[in-house]
Amino acid sequence: MPRLGVNIDHVATIREARRTFEPDPVLAAAFCEKAGCDGIVCHLRKDRRHVNDADLESLKKTVTTRLNQEMSVDPEIVDIACRILPDQATIVPENRQEITTEGGLDVVANFQKIKKVVAKLLGLGIEVSLFIDPEPEQLKASLDSGAGTVEFHTGKYALIFSAGNDVSGELALLRDMTALGLKKGLTVCAGHGLTYENVLPVARIDGMHELNIGHSIISRAVFVGIGEAVRKMKALIK
Ligand code: PXP
Repeated sequence: MPRLGVNIDHVATIREARRTFEPDPVLAAAFCEKAGCDGIVCHLRKDRRHVNDADLESLKKTVTTRLNQEMSVDPEIVDIACRILPDQATIVPENRQEITTEGGLDVVANFQKIKKVVAKLLGLGIEVSLFIDPEPEQLKASLDSGAGTVEFHTGKYALIFSAGNDVSGELALLRDMTALGLKKGLTVCAGHGLTYENVLPVARIDGMHELNIGHSIISRAVFVGIGEAVRKMKALIK
């Protein structure tokens, strides 16, 4: 059964809508852990549109499962990760204009830069995951970079699913790429756009280590509370 990492960014998004102090993403993380999640995920963006530096510092002190910091390779953000020392860093592409992370990291095109950051983070004892599209070239470059983990971007799968179209091709790709990653000795995770409706086939992929889910859980939490939303997702994955 894959582990569940809960991305709490959107709790902070609500707070930032008013630039106030509530709701507190750090408190949200504690509720998620109490409800049985296996890790807390947050993305410290250059524009700090959701979690900020103080949140990250508090999360480092309070998270009792695992703290997974999503981050770009921007030097300022890399320095912060090197100071905070999350359990894991997930390197993602970041573009200021985007609403959310669009597409995976192009490890092939940015190989040297990414390899350097991976080495720096690993040297500090931070596990490193690369958020990539499920493509053989990206998987190979990820392996060559020294990262021990990849997270496959499931955004395309989610889009096909929500359009009501046939997801079998995209699922087969995710399955094949997971098998290939495992064969190469990588830990394989997946995330982005996963919901209560579309998560099951991805959770059933053999060897899938962890699913990282944010938007759908926080959306449900608005109606049922964050503990209930996390428990429901955890039960589904089980
Ligand atoms: N994994 C990564 C690497 C992400 O960047 C995100 C979005 O921040 C997620 C998972 C979660 O995506 P969603 O909010 O669509 O569940």
